[in-house]
Amino acid sequence: MSLITSSRSSTDSRQPVDARSAGRGRGHIEVRGVTRSFATGKGKSRADRLALDTVDLTIPQGQFVALVGASGCGKTTLLNMIAGLLPPSTGTITLGESHAQCPNFDVGYMFARHALLPWRKVVRNVELGMEVRPGWSRGGRRRRAQEMLDLVGLSSYYHALPGELSQGMRQRAAIARTLAPDPNVLLMDEPFAALDARTKLVLQREFLSIWERDGFSDGDTRKTVVFVTHDLSEAILLADRVIVMLPSPGRIAGDHVIPLPRPRADDLGDILFTDQFRELHHSFFHELEGAMGSGALTKDKEEEVA
Ligand SMILES: Nc1ncnc2c1ncn2[C@@H]1O[C@H](COP(=O)(O)OP(=O)(O)O)[C@@H](O)[C@H]1O
Ligand SMILES: [Mg+2]
Repeated sequence: MSLITSSRSSTDSRQPVDARSAGRGRGHIEVRGVTRSFATGKGKSRADRLALDTVDLTIPQGQFVALVGASGCGKTTLLNMIAGLLPPSTGTITLGESHAQCPNFDVGYMFARHALLPWRKVVRNVELGMEVRPGWSRGGRRRRAQEMLDLVGLSSYYHALPGELSQGMRQRAAIARTLAPDPNVLLMDEPFAALDARTKLVLQREFLSIWERDGFSDGDTRKTVVFVTHDLSEAILLADRVIVMLPSPGRIAGDHVIPLPRPRADDLGDILFTDQFRELHHSFFHELEGAMGSGALTKDKEEEVA
């Protein structure tokens, strides 16, 4: 059994959307002609504003995709639609053989802020995702939560409250909670954005190491990851593929394979200083810069996407 694969029973009764999607891995994501508008203003000045323009995106099972772009370019909107939390205005999204829907027990969603319940002990927070899913006994949940906390280095904190943990430790607990129900798809919305640079690198390395070991020990069972970030370095370091997004309206401007070898978790610190990394960073940075209007970046924008 792989590191983060569980032995829970499944009671999933979803039906295939159509013949084309039958037989695809459950972590396969298909986004077809998706747009999303939001209403702005009131009364006579009410209008629909296009937040995301025609997105077509195929993400095969087991791929680690980073969505990178400045704030407001629709990254969270796209993630929410994949999670089934928000319907598209037009187009379709399928995960495996089903339309995106909520709840979807195949999806784990992790936010920038840990979103742990402050009154629940850490171990009970990690159990939360399993409580709402079928197939988990009480004892099974507890064992699994402890296993996941061990995996992220929180063995001594099962019974602590979130308020007693550092920001980095809370994000570790959030990783454990997201992985615990063993979803096929991980949706992560700027999960390390609130951390200081050092803690961020440590958690990037640990998360990547868990994800890479999982895939390498078990063939095609690696989880699909859609990882939102405005940090270009983070996107290149972690992902198999970087999708560059631009705002007004939000759209995909570039789709790039990252040729860095795997496993790479242990080498993240060194990769940052390689010519290959610098070249990738330089070229994506200019892709973001070139389409941001005036050509030259303001200091604010530069900080937003660096
Ligand atoms: N619920 C909402 N109501 C109105 N506008 C929204 C809503 N959610 C997002 N938007 C708008 O859609 C655009 C994209 O937002 P978002 O997906 O949050 O961008 P990002 O995650 O890239 O920062 C922004 O202009 C934002 O103001
Ligand atoms: Mg966002």
